[in-house]
Amino acid sequence: MFKKYISFIRGVSVNKLGLTGVVLTTSAFVTFIILELTRVLGFITNAYVGLVNYMLFPALFVIGLIMIPIAWRKRKRETGKSTEQLLQEQFEKRETEGSFLGSRIFRTIAIFTLINILFLSVLSSRMLHFMDEPHFCGTACHTVMNPEWVTYQASPHARVKCVECHVGEGVDALVNAKLNGLWQIISLTFNLYEQPIPTPVYQLRPARETCEKCHWPDKFYGQRIKRIVDYEYDSLSTPRYTTLSLKIDVGEADVRRGIHWHIAEENEIRYASLEDEREEMIWVDVRQPDGSFKRYKNTELVSEHESEFEDFRILDCVDCHNRATHIYEQPEKALNERIRKGLIDRSVPFIKKAALGAILPIYNDTASAREQIANHVRGFYQREYPGIFRQKFAEIDSTIAVLQSIYARNIHPYMNIRWNSYPGHIGHRGTGGCFRCHNPNMIDEEGESIPDDCTMCHSIAAYGGNTPYQYLEPVDTSSQDYIIHQYLKNEFLESAAEAKNNQEQ
Ligand code: HEC
Ligand code: HEC
Ligand code: HEC
Ligand code: HEC
Ligand code: HEC
Repeated sequence: MFKKYISFIRGVSVNKLGLTGVVLTTSAFVTFIILELTRVLGFITNAYVGLVNYMLFPALFVIGLIMIPIAWRKRKRETGKSTEQLLQEQFEKRETEGSFLGSRIFRTIAIFTLINILFLSVLSSRMLHFMDEPHFCGTACHTVMNPEWVTYQASPHARVKCVECHVGEGVDALVNAKLNGLWQIISLTFNLYEQPIPTPVYQLRPARETCEKCHWPDKFYGQRIKRIVDYEYDSLSTPRYTTLSLKIDVGEADVRRGIHWHIAEENEIRYASLEDEREEMIWVDVRQPDGSFKRYKNTELVSEHESEFEDFRILDCVDCHNRATHIYEQPEKALNERIRKGLIDRSVPFIKKAALGAILPIYNDTASAREQIANHVRGFYQREYPGIFRQKFAEIDSTIAVLQSIYARNIHPYMNIRWNSYPGHIGHRGTGGCFRCHNPNMIDEEGESIPDDCTMCHSIAAYGGNTPYQYLEPVDTSSQDYIIHQYLKNEFLESAAEAKNNQEQ
C-alpha cells in the first residue's frame, strides 16, 4: 500500500513544481493532523495555534493541490506530449492499461480526490465550529476582545457561547457574521476600530431569539430580595444596609404590574432616542388593549426632535439588561462586594478608604497599575498609620492582590475602558437606567407622566440602615420617621403577600 502510494506520488510529480505541490499538500496534511490531535487531546489550548491550524495548513494544502495540475499543463506545453503519453511515461504499464476511464490510475486519482474533498469538508465544518467557540472569539484578537472576555468569564453567562447572543441562526446570519469578521480582521490590521468599541451594538441578534431561548417571559420570576451592603469610609468601614424586594414578575393585566410587564406577550413599548443611542428618550409609545399606541413625550426634547421617527426601537431585554454578560463594576460597589465576601479584611482600619484611593486613578498600563496600587496602599498606611502597617502587614498585602484583580477586570487602558465607560441600565443612577423613561418629564396628552414612585418597582425594607431589615423592625411612635417607617413596612408585607398568592394560584 505504502509502496503504491510512493510510486503514485512519484508519478504525479512531473517536474519540480509538481513535486513542490505534492510535498506541500502532504506535509500540510500531516502537520494538520498532528496539531489537531494535540488540540483535541487538550495538550494545546492556545487560540492562536488553532487559528494557524485552521487557516494556514488548509491554505497550504489547497495551494499544493492546485500546483499539481498546473505542473502537468506546464510539462505538456514544454514537451508537446498529450496527457495520455505523459501518463504512460510517468506510471507503470499496468496502471495505465485499458481506456483512461477504466484504468487503475483513474481509480487511484478518483479515490484521492474523494479523500481530499472529504477532508476539506470536514475541515471547514471543524473550522466554523472552532470559530464559534468563546475561547476563539475571546482570545484570538487578544487586546481588543480582552475586556469582553474577562467580564464574560465572571458573568452568569460564562457557559453561553458568544455566538448564541451575537450571531443569528441560518445561512444569512452566518454569511453576515463572517463578512463582519472579515471586516474586523481588516480593521484590526490597520487599527481602524474604535476604542472602546461603541455601544449599543446594533447587529445583536434580536433578544426574542436569543435570551428567550433560555429565559422565557411567561416564566414566573416573582419577587427577588436584593441585599446591598455599603461600607462607609470611616475607620471601621461601618456597614450600611439597603434591602429591596424587586417586583420582577410580569404581573397580570389590570392588576398590579411588575418589572417584566414590558415584555409580556400582549405588550409592546417603542421609543425614539437621541441619535439612536438609547440614552435620552424623545418619546415612548405604549400599546393599548385596543391596539392603538399611547405616546409619552419628553417635554425637554420633543419640540425639537419629534420628527425623528425613523429610528424608533421596540423595547426588549437588552434595553434593560445591556450588561447581562459584559458586567463592569463601579469602584465603590466592587469594594463593597469584596469586603462582604471577606476577601478584603474589614478589621484593618480605614481599609475601604485606602482601597478606593488606590483603584480610582487611571494608570498608564497594566504593569504600572499593579505597582502603583501596591505603592498607594502601603504608602497610605506607612505615612498615616505606621502601627497598623506593622501589625496588619499580611492583611494589607492580600488586600493589594484583590485590588489588582478588581482593576484588571474593569480597567483596560489599551481599549480606553475606564470606570463607567459602559454604563448598565438595570437600576437608576442619576437620570439613567429605568429613569430614562420613568421620570416626570415624560408626559402623555393628559399631562400624566410615566410613574416613578419609589415602591412601584421594589419594596424597600432598608435604605442605608444599621440593620438589613430596618423598616420591618418595630418603631417608636415618637420617632421622626415613624410615618415613612410604617408605610414601607406595610407596603413590603402587602406586596410580599400578594406575590405569594400569585405563586400559589
Ligand atoms: C448572554 C448573551 C451574550 C453573550 C454570551 C456574549 N455577549 Fe457580547 N454582548 C451582549 C450584549 C447584550 C451586549 C451589549 C449590547 C449593547 O450595549 O448594545 C454585548 C456587547 C459586546 C461587545 C461590545 C462592547 C461591549 O462590551 O458592550 C463585544 C465586543 C462583545 N459583546 C463580544 C463578546 C464576546 C467576545 C463574547 C464571548 C466571549 C460575548 N460577547 C458573549 C450579549 C452577550
Ligand atoms: C444558552 C442559554 C442562555 C441564553 C441564550 C441567555 N441566558 Fe441568561 N442565564 C442563563 C443561565 C444558565 C443563567 C444563570 C442562572 C443562575 O445562575 O441561576 C442566566 C442568568 C441570567 C440573569 C440573572 C443574573 C443574576 O443576577 O442572577 C439575567 C438577568 C439574564 N440571564 C439575562 C439574559 C439576557 C438579557 C440574555 C440575552 C441577551 C440571556 N440572559 C441569554 C442562560 C442563558
Ligand atoms: C424594563 C426593564 C427590563 C426588561 C425589558 C427585561 N428585564 Fe429582566 N429584569 C429586570 C430587572 C430590573 C430585574 C431584576 C434585577 C436584578 O435581579 O438584579 C430583572 C431580572 C431578570 C432575571 C433574573 C430573575 C431572577 O429571578 O433572578 C432574568 C433571567 C431576566 N430578567 C431576563 C430577562 C429577559 C430574558 C428579558 C427579555 C425577554 C428581560 N429580562 C427583559 C428588568 C428588565
Ligand atoms: C423605554 C422606556 C422605559 C424604560 C427604559 C423602562 N420602562 Fe418601565 N414602563 C415604561 C412605560 C411606558 C410603562 C407603562 C406606563 C403606563 O402605564 O402607561 C412602564 C411600566 C412599568 C411598570 C408597571 C407600572 C404599573 O403601572 O404597574 C414597572 C414596574 C416598570 N415599568 C419598571 C421599570 C424598571 C424597573 C425599569 C428599569 C430596569 C424600567 N421600567 C424601564 C417605559 C419604560
Ligand atoms: C422604574 C422602577 C424604579 C423606580 C421608580 C425606583 N427604583 Fe430604585 N431601583 C430599581 C431597580 C431596577 C434597581 C436596581 C436593582 C439592581 O441593582 O439589581 C433599583 C435600585 C435602587 C437602590 C439600590 C441602589 C444600589 O446601591 O445599588 C436604591 C437605594 C433605590 N433603588 C431607591 C429608590 C428610591 C428612593 C426611589 C424613589 C425615588 C426608587 N428607587 C425608584 C427600580 C426603580
